[in-house]
Amino acid sequence: MDIVIRNTSEVVTVAGDPSGPADQALAAIPRGAVGIIGARVAFLGPETELPSDAVGPETKIIDAGGGFVGPGFVDPHTHLVFAGERSREFDLRCQGKSYVELAQAGGGIASTMRATRAATETELMNGARVRLRRLLEHGVLVAEVKSGYGLNVEDELKMLKIIHRLQGAQPVTLVPTLLCAHAIPPEYEGDRRREYVDLCVNEIIPTVAQQKLAVFCDAFVERSAFTAAEGRRILEAGRAAGLVPRLHADQLSDGGGGALAAELGAATADHLEFVNDAGIEAMAKAGVSAVLVPTSTLFLRQRQYAPGRKLRDAGVNVALGTNVNPGSAMTENLPLALGLACLENGLSAAEAYLAATRGAAVALRLEQAGRLKLNEPADLVVFACKGPGHLPYHLGMNHVRWVIKGGDVVVHRDGDSHVCE
Ligand code: NIG
Repeated sequence: MDIVIRNTSEVVTVAGDPSGPADQALAAIPRGAVGIIGARVAFLGPETELPSDAVGPETKIIDAGGGFVGPGFVDPHTHLVFAGERSREFDLRCQGKSYVELAQAGGGIASTMRATRAATETELMNGARVRLRRLLEHGVLVAEVKSGYGLNVEDELKMLKIIHRLQGAQPVTLVPTLLCAHAIPPEYEGDRRREYVDLCVNEIIPTVAQQKLAVFCDAFVERSAFTAAEGRRILEAGRAAGLVPRLHADQLSDGGGGALAAELGAATADHLEFVNDAGIEAMAKAGVSAVLVPTSTLFLRQRQYAPGRKLRDAGVNVALGTNVNPGSAMTENLPLALGLACLENGLSAAEAYLAATRGAAVALRLEQAGRLKLNEPADLVVFACKGPGHLPYHLGMNHVRWVIKGGDVVVHRDGDSHVCE
């Protein structure tokens, strides 16, 4: 074999049924080993069952030092292509201003839009590349990435083309989402807002679909952004053009987002801090995944976190992401999201880990991601701790030691050889 990973505490395959009990879904192999040939997993089982001819003179042996191995994380919600920064807004929020107040004063999404429109493609590429590297160092091997800071034909396309240029140019697999319905751009505010929705429906969506620049179409339905009727119109147009609907739902207030996502047959409803019980029930019935992004709930100093426990108990597939963006979640730290999912969304450690792996892959409708299976891609992480339960507990720390993508070592964080219990 090309690579053999041995001396693990366990190999957590996450190959069980993601809608079943999380501990079973993790399908861990105690003292497991992984063998890799080319880009694929060629052995997965107890180390004692590793075939005697698995290790040859050319085999690279990775000694996990008693740490655990799991699939690469899947981050189902990011806005990582942007220019500028909003640390002043962060500071003002810490002094009591709200996200909406700051947006109304000319900050918020519009301020990042101005910086993003003004930036060159190279500047945007370089910033996104650095953020992707940080995600990768935290164990992320698939990331959804949204547009939404262009808010006109030219700049939305510019953002999506950057995502495409980054695909394959660095190790993280990218899933592009059109988010022209992120905010009404300042030039269309007031009585011209309908014209902007028309622009999304008649120009941006058809062009993006025709050039195959996105998989999903997303909309931010909120009092300060798009109405439910506007969101419905945009997502229906997206769906008709072949883009799968998603929704920023019930983030700052209960706007019936859960039910709207269900009505539209959306793949996901994201945020959900204020989702109501009817919305949860509708999502469960319609098979809408919930994408929790508790790093932004924390960052915006919201007191109310999304009801992860209720969503899971209702049978909704739950996914977990960073939401990395300059306004509401300036962090690439997915392990921190795991901690918050346990502390504030009510998930168990196993459920949080499932949500950041297979749960997120299911949300993005990815067949072979977020799990380890024989003959599937060798996309995995070796952690310097004994099991997934340590990640949320050792809050916000990065335990990644090795990351392997398609059989290639893409991260090796050398540090000391200590493995946390
Ligand atoms: O998912 N809520 C809308 N969009 C982002 C925030 C974007 C921004 O503030 O720049 C989010 O939290």
